Parts: sequence; structure tokens; C-alpha cells
Amino acid sequence: RIVPVILAGGQGTRLWPLSRSARPKQFLNLNGDVSLFQQTLLRVSDERYAAPIVITNSDYRFLVAEQAQELGIALAAIVLEPVARNTAPAIAAASVLAESRFGDAILHILASDHAIDVDGDYWRTLDAARQAAGAGMLVTFGIVPTSPETGYGYIEAGGSVAEGAQRVARFIEKPDIKRAEEMVAAGGYLWNSGMFMFSAGTFLAEAQALAPDVVEQARLSVENGVSDLDFFRLEEKSFSLAPNISIDYAVFEKSGKVAVVAVSYAWSDLGSWDAVWKIGAKDEAGNVALRNVSLANTQRSLVLSDHAHVVVDGLEDVAVIASEDAVYVGRLSSAQNVGAIVKRLRTDP
Ligand code: GDD
Ligand code: MG
Repeated sequence: RIVPVILAGGQGTRLWPLSRSARPKQFLNLNGDVSLFQQTLLRVSDERYAAPIVITNSDYRFLVAEQAQELGIALAAIVLEPVARNTAPAIAAASVLAESRFGDAILHILASDHAIDVDGDYWRTLDAARQAAGAGMLVTFGIVPTSPETGYGYIEAGGSVAEGAQRVARFIEKPDIKRAEEMVAAGGYLWNSGMFMFSAGTFLAEAQALAPDVVEQARLSVENGVSDLDFFRLEEKSFSLAPNISIDYAVFEKSGKVAVVAVSYAWSDLGSWDAVWKIGAKDEAGNVALRNVSLANTQRSLVLSDHAHVVVDGLEDVAVIASEDAVYVGRLSSAQNVGAIVKRLRTDP
């Protein structure tokens, strides 16, 4: 069976002020009754999958354990990072642990900030990816782009390499807007979904060749790590020496073994407020109103309040997000700026 590895250590700054460092977006209910992380757990509660490994920052260990328990889902392990080093060291450490426990298993790396409609296409493409991963490829799932997003990786797909899988001619992580517009206009490019499938052994060998520091420190942090009930604590000394780099830059942009499986199920990285608006249920004027909110004469807006009753009158294209202790008001169409604003607040509050 496929071993799911769920990445749940991101900070989600563009969804401020709801997403906070104490409770980042993957643990929030943004589009339904359960959190994005819990939706990810439910997606892999299927006989095709083994019990999931969750890898997260040590700060989020209780959120992960509680949210899994709430659904009654048993986890294979909760791997704890002592410091945040981005996704490459996290995935390498989880792969080392998975290999030591389950041998050269096929791993499905999943982000915990995606909204996905699981349908027949999900299972069909999962089978295609498993075949390609079994044949020694590093598989990524590709989405047909609908706009020149700069927050995603892009994949130039080449000829077929296996049933349902294509060669990757090039992988371009987070292009500038000009490059993104060119690629969308040219066609033949896919968005990298941020979900990957490979065998633990293939990945570790390829990562060892392309990013040796990442794999060596990850191996040490597992070798010197400590098992504590469901938790597995990576050793701080070695893990903090791993370079701070994402899997996309460290391995996927550089590897010649990457294949892409194009998928057509509905997928969204709920990375920013405009993405939450896009997938939300809208009234006739195109507003998404969540929780404690009343609207009048307002169009194409997202208004969300956890506590105070918020009333918006006579505006359009706004995001009004009220959490318990902070309120954000801005143009919905400039929602990508929130991440940079939060960075500034952190250094200069
Ligand atoms: N364990 C752990 N540790 N998880 C992390 C860390 C970390 O240090 N940093 C991020 N994550 C988790 C996030 O919680 C999320 O579930 C996932 O890893 C991806 O991280 P993001 O920070 O959301 O990445 P991104 O959205 O900017 O970019 C990636 O995903 C895009 C699609 O959603 C890339 O893979 C892009 O190429 C891709 O297009
Ligand atoms: Mg993301």
C-alpha cells in the first residue's frame, strides 16, 4: 500500500489574521466543517493507503494529534521538526524514517493546504502515478493552469514515459509574472500541484546526488532521533544544519527522473484570500460571507468574522477578515500582498 506523508509544518502567512503562527491555515476550517489538514487525512483514509506519516513543526504536535484523534484516524507517526527548514529536509527525514520502518515503500507526499474534490480521476491518476513511481520515477501531479499565478511551480510536459505519465522537459519554480504569462499563453505547461509520489529509495538516492547536505543531515536527525509514543523527534543538532530549501528547488527543478501525471479533478491551494473567495459559496452579488457577517450593497467580496458581528455596506472587491484580536481590510484582488505585510509586521510591529 502507498504510504502517505503529510506535510503540515507551513506558516500560511498570506491568510493572516486568521492563520497565525500558533495555528496556521492547515489547521483552520476555511471551506467546510473540518480543517484542511483533516480533509487531507480523510482523503487518504482508503484501503489503497497505509496509515499516514505526518511531518510537522514541534510547535504543532498537539494540533496534529488532536485533529487526527477527532476523526478517529490512527497515524503511523508524527515526525517533529525542532526548527523549520522548509520542505526538502522535512521530506528527506520522513523518507528516511519510512524506509527504516516499511522498506522501499511508495510514498505519496501531500501538502495539507489543498482543497481537492476526490472523484474517479483522483484514483485513476493515483494508479498511474504509482506505476511510474514503481518504475523509478519521481512523479509530480500537474494541474492545467487557468491564470498566470506566480505562487506555483510550472512544468513543461514532454512525451509519454508511462501510461498516463509524461516526461518533464523543464520545471520552473515560482516564476515572475512575465514568465508566468508567457507560459500560460504558450500552452503545454502545467502547474505543479505540490503533491509527489516516488519510492523512498529512488527519492533518497536522487536527493543524495542533487542535495547531499539535505539528505545527510536528515539521516543523522533520524538516526539520533527519539521515539516518544506516536511522536518521533528529529535530533535538533543535525536537523538545524540542513539547508533551508524547498523540495522544488532542491530536487524537482534539477532531476532528470521527474515525470508528471496530469490531473483534472478540482484542486486549489488555499494559499491566499482570493483563493478562499474563488472556491467559496457565493450570493447573487458574488460575495462569500462566512460566519458572523451581514452585507448590504456589496459585490465580489470576501467577509469573514470569527467573533464580532461585521457589517459591510457599499463596497466591492474587498477582503474583510476579522479574527479575535486583529482585522485585515484590503482589496481582494491584491490578496497576494498579505504575506509581505505580515513579514513586515513581524520585524517592525
Ligand atoms: N513539515 C513541514 N516543514 N511542512 C512544511 C514546511 C516545513 O518546514 N514548510 C512548508 N510545509 C508544508 C505546508 O504546510 C504545505 O502543506 C506544504 O508543505 C507546501 O508548502 P507551501 O509553503 O504551501 O508551498 P507553496 O504553496 O508555496 O509551493 C508549493 O506548492 C505549490 C502548489 O500548492 C510548491 O510545491 C509549488 O511548486 C506548488 O505549485
Ligand atoms: Mg501551498
